[in-house]
Amino acid sequence: MPGLIPQEIIDQVHERTNIVEVVSNYLPLKRSGSNFKTLCPFHHEKTPSFMVNPSKQIWHCFGCGLGGNAFSFVMKYENLEFPQAIKLLAKKAGVEIPEFSPQAGARQSLNKNLYRINELAANYFHNNLLNQQMGKLARQYLKKRGITEEIVGKFRLGFSLNLWDGFLKFAGSKGEKEEFLKQAGLIIPKRKGGFYDRFRNRLIFPIFDLQGRVIGFGGRVLNNDLPKYINSPETALFNKSRCLYGLNLVREYFREKEYLIVVEGYMDNITLYRAGIRNTVATLGTALTSEHARMLKRYVSSIVIIYDADQAGEAASLRGLDILIEEGLRVRIVRLTEGSDPDSYLINKGKEDFEKRIKQSQDLFSYKLDLLIAKYDADKLEEQAEIIAEMLPTIARVNNAVLRNGYIRRLAKRLSVNESSIMVELKKIKNKKFSYSRPLVKQEFNSKIAVNPEERVIVQLMLEGPELAASIKDDLILEDFENPELKEIAAVIFKLITENKPVEPSQIINYLKDNKTAQLISELSASTIIAGYETSAEDDDLLDKKRLVADCINKMKTKSLRRTRLFLQRKIKMAEQSRNVNEQMRLLNEFQSLIGKV
Ligand code: GTP
Ligand code: MN
Repeated sequence: MPGLIPQEIIDQVHERTNIVEVVSNYLPLKRSGSNFKTLCPFHHEKTPSFMVNPSKQIWHCFGCGLGGNAFSFVMKYENLEFPQAIKLLAKKAGVEIPEFSPQAGARQSLNKNLYRINELAANYFHNNLLNQQMGKLARQYLKKRGITEEIVGKFRLGFSLNLWDGFLKFAGSKGEKEEFLKQAGLIIPKRKGGFYDRFRNRLIFPIFDLQGRVIGFGGRVLNNDLPKYINSPETALFNKSRCLYGLNLVREYFREKEYLIVVEGYMDNITLYRAGIRNTVATLGTALTSEHARMLKRYVSSIVIIYDADQAGEAASLRGLDILIEEGLRVRIVRLTEGSDPDSYLINKGKEDFEKRIKQSQDLFSYKLDLLIAKYDADKLEEQAEIIAEMLPTIARVNNAVLRNGYIRRLAKRLSVNESSIMVELKKIKNKKFSYSRPLVKQEFNSKIAVNPEERVIVQLMLEGPELAASIKDDLILEDFENPELKEIAAVIFKLITENKPVEPSQIINYLKDNKTAQLISELSASTIIAGYETSAEDDDLLDKKRLVADCINKMKTKSLRRTRLFLQRKIKMAEQSRNVNEQMRLLNEFQSLIGKV
């Protein structure tokens, strides 16, 4: 669907848009299992068959067959063209759309250079770490902290040598220009001319975006020197307040839990991951921002923040969290015991104890109130007012009226004050909220697309997960698909796998030209029942998928062979008619070799 809007901008808007939020701006959504349901706005119905799937970020109506991602929903509902829909959602997501200009073109080509250089650097650092001699000390350090080879691979950890120009020379030998290396934040200009490496003698943590591309680095000393960490500076690709370490890996695991854990450090994130607590992300030494909140909300509606023991002791440091509430996230907080961070706590006390702590987490409201009550003397009138004043911004940001009133009631009760006086104070600080205008809806009906069952099943299975998709890709070629829509979807999936990007239904839709094909995706990923095969939603999990895959591939191969044979037969006939004996012989040979294959 490309237009004048650069793909990177489309990707950005896509990453920061939550389909549940978008649709609920127009329609009342009701939770139904892991999905949301409502009456379809695009056809007349009495029982809801319009479904929104937050984990796949798609919508689909089982009644009329329409479906797609957040973009296609807005296009359809607002009756907009693609660029207009992107613009609308970009505004909501806080993404600025550049006017198409030579500058925009230049920026895109700079970004391309920076991605390439970051990738080169990540590989270079990683190889240093794996190097028998050069990586020895760093590997020893990692071992001491319990980090295995597998984890090193998963997080692509690396090591920057104790040299002033290790990477500088390496990148130069690969033909990279110093100007770009500088813009990538990997080298720093010397006062008297020339450059030197930013990361020296440090353990390297590459930082990835949601598509798994390296956008920056963190580097830790191997001893107690200061600064303990240095990070990439802000670059065209890297902005700390828009980045959550580990989020690219979380995508595979968040489905198991309804919440994500937010910790503060690289090492905390890695240790939790290592212990099998994989619904975790880390901020990079910054406070959580509303950008973070929007990213998190695409996956979960609640988060659990685990602070180091020495922090968050003050209510003031919690103030920033109100912004998360405003974005509609439920926030719970765990405070660890004296002197430990999540990493050391988990290592010292074990997983069971750690998980108990998570279970005992308090919501932001109670956590903050407890802190304030401990800090102030709630029996004194002025101090009571102080507590209320601190609590109000948090309460004001709760969008849900029932919840908000519940908080007011709890606060009033806890402090033995009048609810209505809290209400009065609340009114004073409340601000207005952004809202969508409600457009007219155009009715339109769509017929279901009839497709080859085994091809359909294969695509459906590829949409389920990257592992299955990758193994299918190894065994199939695009020519094995007969149905053009499914072939197009498969082509996009193959491309995403090759480029190491996540295979996500809502993302695939952005690469498709045809609206009908996009609908097919939503339909395929929305149904739990695999067409033409005897399975039900309940035993779907038990289904031997590998066997099913083999079965479908077999059928597709046979059919594809049959198609090729028919095609050859026709060509042989044509060669015969035009008396082209050489061509005829060649085709006959080809035909023979195919028969041998069956
Ligand atoms: P370990 O001490 O190795 O366990 O690291 P940690 O991940 O627990 O780090 P810590 O809790 O000390 O800090 C949390 C995060 O803040 C780190 O992961 C870094 O992103 C950031 N940070 C910590 N120290 C520094 C520093 O000296 N400079 C900068 N720029 N960032 C830092
Ligand atoms: Mn630590």
